[in-house]
Amino acid sequence: MNITVTKSPASRRAQANLENAAFGEVFSDHMFQMEFRNGGWREAKLLPFGPLPMLPSISALHYGQIVFEGLKAFRQQSGAVALFRPEKFYERFARSCRRLAIPSMSREQFIGAVTSVVREDEGWVPQKRGHSLYLRPFVFASESFLGVRASREYTFMVIASPVGNYYKEGVKPVRLTTSADYIRAAKGGLGDVKTPANYAASLLAAEEARDEGFAQVIWLDAAEHRYLEEAGAMNIFCVIGGELVTPPLEGTILPGVTRDSVLALAKAWGLKIAERRIAIDELFDAGEKGTLREVFGSGTAAVISPVGEIRHRGETLSVNGGNIGPLAQRFYDAITAIQYGEAEDAFAWMEKVV
Ligand code: COI
Repeated sequence: MNITVTKSPASRRAQANLENAAFGEVFSDHMFQMEFRNGGWREAKLLPFGPLPMLPSISALHYGQIVFEGLKAFRQQSGAVALFRPEKFYERFARSCRRLAIPSMSREQFIGAVTSVVREDEGWVPQKRGHSLYLRPFVFASESFLGVRASREYTFMVIASPVGNYYKEGVKPVRLTTSADYIRAAKGGLGDVKTPANYAASLLAAEEARDEGFAQVIWLDAAEHRYLEEAGAMNIFCVIGGELVTPPLEGTILPGVTRDSVLALAKAWGLKIAERRIAIDELFDAGEKGTLREVFGSGTAAVISPVGEIRHRGETLSVNGGNIGPLAQRFYDAITAIQYGEAEDAFAWMEKVV
């Protein structure tokens, strides 16, 4: 891919406090931009990070025809920089684009765009364990048009943000609550693709949960309000008896790359695994019987997020005494060891870029 490069006149890197910024608050010096016009992707550019000139009439602002991704570049023990599973993120991006009627781009264009930002802003990849450069590729409908139909023009961009732990508290168990009033996604909708609407749908519920002292909402299915779907913006895993259980991908759950990585490790370790529906009542029953060992979320931002307590219809379930469980810890340690180049990359997940 031919990329026109305009370098930032002065780097902000020296002033940036890489290690104390909250998630997604600080951005690196450069951004990638490419346009879809006349049926093809063109004008690939690397530019100084900055404001976008745009008309207020572009259709993304009105009808939400937008897809995004989130992946990370890690500083390896050797000093090199590597991306975690970029191909897998590309595949999901392409699937999400299809659902939103957005023309996707080739694998080479997507990964080329991401790596161009990482190479240019290599100095923004933190050294510290637990920290990384979060890459946010996104595409939006940029045709100036208010009719309700798929746009004929799109803008694709990649921005980068040095990040530490997603939760201020680090890898600490969170308290979650179900919501009696809201749902995240219904079958046939957008729940299994990465588009802003899913996140917008979750915000009021998350605010109300926070007001009641919970970190996030544990989403139940839209049809029966019974089965676990996601934990906040993360996939959910439970350890019941001797089995690792996670809801199946049946159209309402985002196919998480970390979810897939957890399952791959679990298989390699010979754990008993089930991808099946888990009723919230089953969880509470298992808690009562003493067979519920662990609950944790998985996602790119936090990697593994243990759940210490769940509230549902006024009842409270304490999980593993509110502590991180051994399996959650084991997955966190194994995934991060691969990401930082400390353990053998047995699944060929890391893609060296610098
Ligand atoms: C994740 O990476 O776990 C998420 O989905 C959250 C992200 C949108 C910030």
